[in-house]
This record gives sequence, structure tokens and C-alpha cells, in this order.
Amino acid sequence: MDQYLPDKVNINGEQFRVYLTKDEIQERLKDMGNRISHEYKDKRPILIGVLNGAFVFLADLMRYISIPCEVDFLKLSSYGDEKVSSGNVTDLKNIDADIKDRHVILVEDIVDTGLSMNYLFKKLEQFEPASLSAATLLHKTEATQHDVELKYVGFKISNLFVLGYGLDYAQEGRNLAQIYILEE
Ligand code: IMP
Repeated sequence: MDQYLPDKVNINGEQFRVYLTKDEIQERLKDMGNRISHEYKDKRPILIGVLNGAFVFLADLMRYISIPCEVDFLKLSSYGDEKVSSGNVTDLKNIDADIKDRHVILVEDIVDTGLSMNYLFKKLEQFEPASLSAATLLHKTEATQHDVELKYVGFKISNLFVLGYGLDYAQEGRNLAQIYILEE
């Protein structure tokens, strides 16, 4: 069975084109996984994925990590069906793992304004992890207004709406195997 890799995709009447190919993504993830394996050797990190968007990235990234590690998930309120953030963050699902004195890596699909990441850092710091860092596949550097420290960044991208590889537009497009960007 082939993966879902069209050159262009139309969702909700809007046209998207390929922005990052499958190979570019996998190559970058290999580097990120190697770095994490090296920097967290003997630390048994817990990767905490932010649902829904990060599940594809997390699943692939984990398989490039060659040291023992664990995984857990949390869920925040989403964009709804819009392309701009509502400016509010609320919890929809909390972590189950006990992260006190553990080395935690938060895994996000994309950092846009930085509101979610900023909120998550404050939230998880309360559980007193031994260390807390963040990995994001994409970072819209120009859009970020909140203070966020991103240790592992896949790609710095322009301030345009993207989808695919876990990221959705109105819940569609998560199964695309590469990243697409809105055509201007
Ligand atoms: P932030 O709180 O503004 O940084 O937004 C983070 C969240 O917004 C991400 O986890 C995504 O779920 C969503 N998001 C931001 N930009 C995009 C985009 O271009 N496409 C799809 N989702 C996005």
C-alpha cells in the first residue's frame, strides 16, 4: 500500500503544496534522535507527546532514539477548525506518568505563538522533574511571542499555515506523509 503523498492537496476549499518532503523529515529526525540518544544516555528520558498533532512526529522520532526511554501523552484544547490560535489553552488530558526526578522531553508538532509550550513548561515544572526540555518538529520563529526554550527544533519555518504529518486543518490532513503549506 502506498503512503499518502500527493503534490497538492485541497482541504476546505484551500490549496496546499508540498513544503517538506518525507525524506527531508526523516533525515532531520535521524539527527534529532541521535542527539537525544547522546545527550540523555543513562537518563532514561520520558517523552511527553502533545496530542493530537505530535503523535506522528513522536512515533518516528522515538524510533531514531537508541537508548531506553519511555513515553506518555497529554492533550490541550485545539485550534478548533480555524487557522489561527484562540489564544486560550486548557487541559483536555493530563499525563499518567510520575515525572518527579525524571528527565522529561516535551514533544510538540509545532510551536507557533509559543503559548502552549510556555503553558506546558509551567505546568510540568510543578511536578519537579529532574530536567525538562522541549522538542518540536516545526517552529514558526516570527510568530512566537511567548518565552520558550526549544532544545531540539526540526525546522524553522515561515509564518504560514502548514498541515500533514500529524498536523491538521479542520481535523483533515494528519495522514499526509509530508508537510504541506498554504498556497498564497
Ligand atoms: P501555539 O500555542 O500558538 O504555539 O500553537 C501551538 C499549537 O497550535 C500546535 O500544537 C498546533 O496544534 C497548532 N498549530 C499552530 N500552527 C499550526 C499550523 O500551521 N498548522 C496546524 N496546526 C497549527
